[in-house]
Amino acid sequence: MRQAFGLDFGTTNSALALAHSNRTVEVANFGADSTFRSILYFDEEENSRANKLRVVAGPDSIQNYLNARTPGRLIQSTKSYLASRLFNQTQIFGETYSLEELIGILLRHLRQSAEAQFGDLGTSLVVGRPVHFSGTRGEEDDDFAVNRLRAAFRNAGFDDVHFLAEPVAAAYKYQQRLDHDELVLTADFGGGTSDFSLVRLRAKRTAGHELSDQVIANDGVGIAGDTFDSKLVRNLVAPMLGLGSEYRSQFGKVLPVPYWLYEHLERWHYLSFLKTRKNMELLKQIRYQALEPSKIDALIDLVDHDLGYRLYRAIEATKCALSKQPTAEFRFTEAAVDIEKAVQRNEFEDWIEPEVRQIAECVNRLLTKCNVAPKSIDTIFMTGGSSFVPAVRRIFEQTFPAAPIRAGQEFTSVAEGLALHALELAD
Ligand SMILES: Nc1ncnc2c1ncn2[C@@H]1O[C@H](COP(=O)(O)OP(=O)(O)OP(=O)(O)O)[C@@H](O)[C@H]1O
Ligand SMILES: [Mg+2]
Repeated sequence: MRQAFGLDFGTTNSALALAHSNRTVEVANFGADSTFRSILYFDEEENSRANKLRVVAGPDSIQNYLNARTPGRLIQSTKSYLASRLFNQTQIFGETYSLEELIGILLRHLRQSAEAQFGDLGTSLVVGRPVHFSGTRGEEDDDFAVNRLRAAFRNAGFDDVHFLAEPVAAAYKYQQRLDHDELVLTADFGGGTSDFSLVRLRAKRTAGHELSDQVIANDGVGIAGDTFDSKLVRNLVAPMLGLGSEYRSQFGKVLPVPYWLYEHLERWHYLSFLKTRKNMELLKQIRYQALEPSKIDALIDLVDHDLGYRLYRAIEATKCALSKQPTAEFRFTEAAVDIEKAVQRNEFEDWIEPEVRQIAECVNRLLTKCNVAPKSIDTIFMTGGSSFVPAVRRIFEQTFPAAPIRAGQEFTSVAEGLALHALELAD
């Protein structure tokens, strides 16, 4: 029986699906999950004992990191760096890795795990890509990112990769439910990007007519779950770590604690950049002169004990709770950091308002470009983990009051759609 594979390499989660010739789709299981966390962990303890680098990928990496006595290197959101010409390589325990190699390692682990279920995956795949990668300023940057992603897949033995925009893959998945033609807006909200496609979907597949021919236009922005997390950290956590507080300088002047220190809280792993001797000395000096020294103590401990990842995990849990309920408790008690605070959903919505507006503007740009009025849209199909954020959903309820919002399989529908396209290509 003919079969085809689709792989959704996500900023946070990856998924793999297999489409059979009768168009049924199976999603790979990784342990108890249908997604493979896009994380790598390099183990230092193991490294120093066996003098060999041990790397864990996906579901096991987080537990290994959290259980380690001497934490090694945890690497995540690699997809967000694909368009960055500044990120070429990194040193891990004295070894140099390019971004393509790191992603290649992750994909090899994912492949191995999926092959235990499906057998050999072969060399051909359909792979998702955001309409615009994070941090891009033009087509050239996107091409640069795609070429690096292609090289990463080659490193994992996939020589023949066909890319499809992630929201178009979502349309393939949604088409399976259709029994009539529709003008559909698909929206995929992930960890790194929010992506949209306007598609005139035909319910029936006709030979020679690929769904990708029915796509009117795509657009996207590099704003999604990771940005929401960093806004929560900035507004909820940073003030408890001294942002906005003051210290008395050598000359008796009262000065604000420098803002740049808190820019390192924007991504969890940026915090480790503060852990240089010079910065730690500066922090200690500020702490002695601080008007609220306990807050600076907490910041120092966060950096010194490498608590960045743990902090972001607690933040993500609060963000997810706020999708379900109007108030959530944020609790983080590690070393000298002791934060317990109730957060209201409407506070969170105020903090992410500029980002949500940019997402809404992107949707409007897409419609204007295509000269399509909101009332012409029959249905919205929404997917990706960040589609659970009520403020994101509200954009669509307000802009398209007459169009029903359909959702489901938020973490796997893109992979399933990619596999369906792979099948179409094999026809
Ligand atoms: N219930 C929830 N409420 C709010 N956010 C959520 C929820 N569940 C997951 N998320 C967020 O969704 C994001 C992950 O979604 P998803 O797996 O679709 O992204 P991805 O495919 O890895 O990223 P991308 O498509 O941008 O490359 C994370 O930022 C996560 O915190
Ligand atoms: Mg995604």
